[in-house]
Amino acid sequence: MLVAAFLRNGLGLLVPLAIACTIYLYLYPFFGGCAFPLPSRDAREALEATKRLHWPFNRTDDGANSTSAQAPTQLAPFRLLALGDPQLEGDTSIPTVILGTFPHAASIYRHVTFQTEHWCFRERLRWIAHDIVDILFEDIPYYLESWRKRLDHIGNDFYLAHIYRTMHWWTRPTHVTVLGDLLGSQWIEDEEFDRRGQRFWQRVFRGGERVPDEVAAWPAHEYDLAGMLDGSEEEQVWTRRIINVAGNHDIGYAGDLTKERLDRFERVFGKVNYELRFGIPLNDSAVLASIHDDDRNPESNRLDPEIRIVVLNDMNLDTPAKDTSLQDATYNFINTVIGTSAAVEYEGIFTLVLTHIPLYKPEGVCVDAPFFDFHGEEDGSGVKEQYLLSADASKGFLEGFFGMNKNPDAAGGGRGRKGLILNGHDHEGCDTWHFVNQTNGSDPSERSWEVARWRDAQARGLPKLTTSGVPGRREITVRSMMGDFSGNAGLLSMWFNPETWEWEYEFANCRLGTQHFWWFVHILDFGVIVVFLVYLVISLLELVGVDVDARFFRLVPRWLYRKSDDDAVMQNGHARIKG
Ligand SMILES: *[C@@H]1O[C@H](CO)[C@@H](O)[C@H](O)[C@H]1NC(C)=O
Repeated sequence: MLVAAFLRNGLGLLVPLAIACTIYLYLYPFFGGCAFPLPSRDAREALEATKRLHWPFNRTDDGANSTSAQAPTQLAPFRLLALGDPQLEGDTSIPTVILGTFPHAASIYRHVTFQTEHWCFRERLRWIAHDIVDILFEDIPYYLESWRKRLDHIGNDFYLAHIYRTMHWWTRPTHVTVLGDLLGSQWIEDEEFDRRGQRFWQRVFRGGERVPDEVAAWPAHEYDLAGMLDGSEEEQVWTRRIINVAGNHDIGYAGDLTKERLDRFERVFGKVNYELRFGIPLNDSAVLASIHDDDRNPESNRLDPEIRIVVLNDMNLDTPAKDTSLQDATYNFINTVIGTSAAVEYEGIFTLVLTHIPLYKPEGVCVDAPFFDFHGEEDGSGVKEQYLLSADASKGFLEGFFGMNKNPDAAGGGRGRKGLILNGHDHEGCDTWHFVNQTNGSDPSERSWEVARWRDAQARGLPKLTTSGVPGRREITVRSMMGDFSGNAGLLSMWFNPETWEWEYEFANCRLGTQHFWWFVHILDFGVIVVFLVYLVISLLELVGVDVDARFFRLVPRWLYRKSDDDAVMQNGHARIKG
């Protein structure tokens, strides 16, 4: 009775705790108030709308409420779940894989069996003693550490999977992207690369699919839309596809990037450079008539509204690159994107750039400051590491992709095309506004691109000046989804405003919390199940007449529970539980 009662009381405490923690963990986006922003930009309303998606009784609402219950109509038509830097670790961080298992034991064996050369027996003994010390202070710790790491990797996979699955289920994105560094190291062998690729698709992003090569299009003047943002059944395929961006740990920086590394990435995760265009249905005939048409409406500057997603490998934008032909391919892609863009005077197309390394910004704006490291001459002197793109490469984004200009007399007033840049790399995340003051000084060439934190830029009213002399674009570096960065996910909503003929967007973050909480909940749940099973077994035994308590207290050394005699303890225990 005593042992069973103890377990019952323990369960009474643990079960409610376990249930509460589990509910919190599995509904964390709800408790965190996470939802794709609505065109109203009201976070509370967005959460309400998302909650209604999961409320099964929408259809039974009476007439007065039915319009507000039709949540899907007010959701933004484009909802991108943006995940940064999962960085799946593997072999390369397991000591026994690198050094071997108990290498010093093998060494002792060789000394003992005279497979090694020593000039005297004393020397042989000396080396054996050495190896014994190394077993104690190196092999055993490394061995234990390796198992801890393996367990860590499995847990980490499921932790990341939990973020993807839960966010995907709760927020209902229309599109998903992983902004580079899918894997944790570019130095791995092909076999390990494939293993991690398997883990990526089978475990972390289970249910996800790579973007098919025939859909990942090379930019052209004549193109097919990759889809319509109409929420139809046909478009559901995009909720499963994962738009992968290549990061430095996937294919290497410019100084490491080889054709082999690029090929294996494209084989497993999809192409590195392509574009996807998504249209939106318009029904209003007056609106349709206002769209530019060379014959019927040549004066109009309104184009068919489209989101143009440009997926860019910016690993080899900066020089020197190891393989210049791959660098040429990247430059060629960028030039084709620019060459196939509509002239800056036209409106209705929004360019969303998905890439990995963030744009240049001076120290102090984000966590990462400008940093470059190069390989030595013997290794080809290419880029070995970089935190940000160079200022020149960044200018290419702002003046190339977006066609902005320091000179207000340039085409379209230098205001450029609408768009946004999303990237990763800086695990801490960052949100910035790049702008140029077109009225600063008389010589446009002396004006320079500036950058401010998004919040500061808003406080200074900079985004509002984008059409009046200070054109700018926003760059969001999405915080990593790794546990050390609290399992973050980015939520980008985009919708079309037919009045201004512009796409509008809003971005929000959602955090799960560190991996420790995930571990805690699962260990707790596991513990509760074990305790419950033990309790069940003991209860059954007692039912058939086994005196569990007596056996239990005979098993446990006396000094563990009480120095006095067993009976007193049991009596006290009974008295306490009855009392
Ligand atoms: C742009 O430059 C002009 C001239 O120096 C200055 O008066 C103005 O305040 C600047 N605008 C911003 C937003 O910095």
